[in-house]
Amino acid sequence: MAHFPKPQEGSWTEHYPGLGTKPVSYYDSITQEFYDKEQQAIFLRTWLNIGRVEDLPRKGSYFTRELEWAKKSIIVTKDNSGAIRAFHNICRHRGNKLVWDDYPDRETKGNCRQFTCKYHAWQFSLEGELTYVQQESEFFDLDKDALGLPPVACEVWEGFIFINLAKQPEQTLTEFLGDLGTDLAGYPFGEMTQAWTIRANIGSNWKLFVDAFIEFYHAPVLHVRQAAPGEAEKLFNYGFEALHYELYSPHSMLSSWGGMSPPKDPSMVKPIENAIRSGLFGPWDAPGVVSELPKGVNPSKHKAWGVDSWVIFPNFMILIWERQWYLTYHYWPAGPSAHFFESSLYFVPPKTPRERIQQELAVASMKEYALQDANTLGATQSMLESGVVDTFVLCDQEMAIRAHHATVREHVAAWEEGRPVSYPWTRK
Ligand code: FES
Ligand SMILES: [Fe+2]
Repeated sequence: MAHFPKPQEGSWTEHYPGLGTKPVSYYDSITQEFYDKEQQAIFLRTWLNIGRVEDLPRKGSYFTRELEWAKKSIIVTKDNSGAIRAFHNICRHRGNKLVWDDYPDRETKGNCRQFTCKYHAWQFSLEGELTYVQQESEFFDLDKDALGLPPVACEVWEGFIFINLAKQPEQTLTEFLGDLGTDLAGYPFGEMTQAWTIRANIGSNWKLFVDAFIEFYHAPVLHVRQAAPGEAEKLFNYGFEALHYELYSPHSMLSSWGGMSPPKDPSMVKPIENAIRSGLFGPWDAPGVVSELPKGVNPSKHKAWGVDSWVIFPNFMILIWERQWYLTYHYWPAGPSAHFFESSLYFVPPKTPRERIQQELAVASMKEYALQDANTLGATQSMLESGVVDTFVLCDQEMAIRAHHATVREHVAAWEEGRPVSYPWTRK
């Protein structure tokens, strides 16, 4: 990772001249036409995170993911050799969805030796081969070897399972992650197996919620009531300044101060946080599983560091907190003005009731903040769609938003023009 100049040597944005500093258009977030192109140019050909290795504890473990935006359903499984594989969830006989429980449109998980179709009992192995056909002799020239489950490209990085819906992905997952993959490697994600997930349908383009989580310029204003009153006033007057921004195009990160876990002065936070020793920044007593941070985390090595927000293009974020837990966001498109949002908090499993309650308060705090963030999105979407104003100004603390939209637009333009993607915002 390169060392970034200090903020006093110029603005963050100006260190990436190709990004520009001009007002930006939000046409990429409001039209069906752009949405359709974005599906083709990005979501159907990019690596997408759909789970963790802990979701597949044994050989034969599986889970399904319903990708409604792509009209696809995927089975992810651990095969007999322990490898993780993904398949399209479609029976090769007459196309029934192969794996589901009571409701065909709902995701499921479990453990099995074979996948058996509910319709006529064809069976497929964990490796995707067609292994059993009912009344096989009645079929005509049946080539079972050619009737396996259609595979989906699947790779794992640091325990995160990614798929790529392209038949031949243009890059391996390692190439796609680039320096981000090595700068984050080694964090003990695998120790943090206590997961809490929140899901919501949101009435905005998926990128608008990404925007809300890659700047904290809004935090002292929109979330003003989350802090104790005296503290809120200080934060409001001070505003927000990040410790660091870094573009790993197409990915990015922002690093922020913390300071609330525990707070220097108990009056900075609400009584419940003092009583339970937890809050938005997580349980105040860290579990002690992080001996050394990966080199990309807290890049400014600031003592007041609290959290890094990493955007893994296009729709996945990982937030790594100083108190040794992590949070993920996924934004699944559902049309130009709708998306499905998932957020999961991951902690080292609690050993005492007190630790469990501390985690629950962190989950409840995060949910409260996220509701405040989500609450603005429908209002923003409707006003963008009004078309009254067609460009918007972004400040230096909103650099990652500028970069994310520019990256989306570049991927769409490259796809339309049949050329490789390039990121002209190189560092000065
Ligand atoms: S559709 Fe699956 S066995 Fe017939
Ligand atoms: Fe927020």
